[in-house]
Amino acid sequence: MQFEVLATCHTTRARVCRMTLGHGVTMLPTFMPVATQAAIKGLTPQQMEGLGVSLILNNTYHLNLRPGIKVLQEAGGAHKFQGWNHNLLTDSGGFQLVSLSKFTKITEEGALFASPFTGEPTMLTPEESMSIQHAIGADIIMQLDDVVSSLTTGSRVGEAMERSVRWLDRCIEFHRKSGRDEKQNLFAIVQGGLDPALRDRCLEEMIKRREGVAGYAIGGLSGGEEKDIFWRIIKQCAEKLPADRPRYSMGIGFAEDLLVCVALGVDMADCVFPTRTARFGVALTHNGPMNLRLGKYAKDFGPIDDTCPCPTCSDGTSRSILHHTITRETSAAHAVTLHNLTFQAQVMGRARDAIIAGTFPKYLRSFFAGYFSDSG
Ligand code: GUN
Ligand code: ZN
Repeated sequence: MQFEVLATCHTTRARVCRMTLGHGVTMLPTFMPVATQAAIKGLTPQQMEGLGVSLILNNTYHLNLRPGIKVLQEAGGAHKFQGWNHNLLTDSGGFQLVSLSKFTKITEEGALFASPFTGEPTMLTPEESMSIQHAIGADIIMQLDDVVSSLTTGSRVGEAMERSVRWLDRCIEFHRKSGRDEKQNLFAIVQGGLDPALRDRCLEEMIKRREGVAGYAIGGLSGGEEKDIFWRIIKQCAEKLPADRPRYSMGIGFAEDLLVCVALGVDMADCVFPTRTARFGVALTHNGPMNLRLGKYAKDFGPIDDTCPCPTCSDGTSRSILHHTITRETSAAHAVTLHNLTFQAQVMGRARDAIIAGTFPKYLRSFFAGYFSDSG
């Protein structure tokens, strides 16, 4: 990976970076759309490319289950399998410890998952996660981490953080020995819940291991905690993480959170939110989210946003037709997804432009004034 800081904001910690990976350049800060199962729900890879997206995310746990490693290997890796010629990141499966916690048991060796299809137990170890991610072949791969919900309290939070450090060591070791470390870039994931002392300890240990990692993620957040605490943890982590490595906040996707994270020094983020909310009929706009299912859009014949360059808005698709079809026709979900991913890309693209122009604080003020106005 090549990573260069091109510009920094003078009043916040926001910065613009150029990250060059095996499948091209991605300018940061960026939002990464989520293709859990090797497909963005509702969009083709060509459409993603048309939107200017250069980095998307797949999930190791899900791809290992289906289609399985043999198919991915035979296809020549996940890029070829899904017809995506740009950068790709795979999450390690660690998050499924939380999202599928009813079906998992964690030991020092790894996480024991019960297959949702057969109930059969399968062990995901740090080495196994690396090995699967090697077969998938993503440009950025994530360490297996021991993740607890951000609302978990007590000794489990510290235990999960310490284990994440030990699992990082195992991932680094396995990755280095595989010889894949030229092509695939391993990221560490900082854990420690909402406890600043645990976060500090994790930061210290993981920063010591910087020779073995290309970047750092901040995990274990966005699980229903207070915004104020979420921001403080992001600030603490982003401040201490090395400036010469990308910083990735996991599972963050609301525009207001993205911009606060960027102001605190975050470079990358991902979330299912913009694509999922599109399927529920919510279009994201610079005047706040617009729920197209509301009756007031039945006779509204304008586009979602007449200044939006997305295919949906520029081809004249009306709020009215979207209102009429959103719960009935998949094409409406596709149309709103195209719009929402354009919106996310615009929020981040304008942030990059403003950081370079030295006007980032002004951009923040105008974004927040518009987004929380009542006109939407
Ligand atoms: N996605 C959102 N949060 C997390 C996290 O803490 N760890 C991993 N591996 N994935 C995530
Ligand atoms: Zn649009």
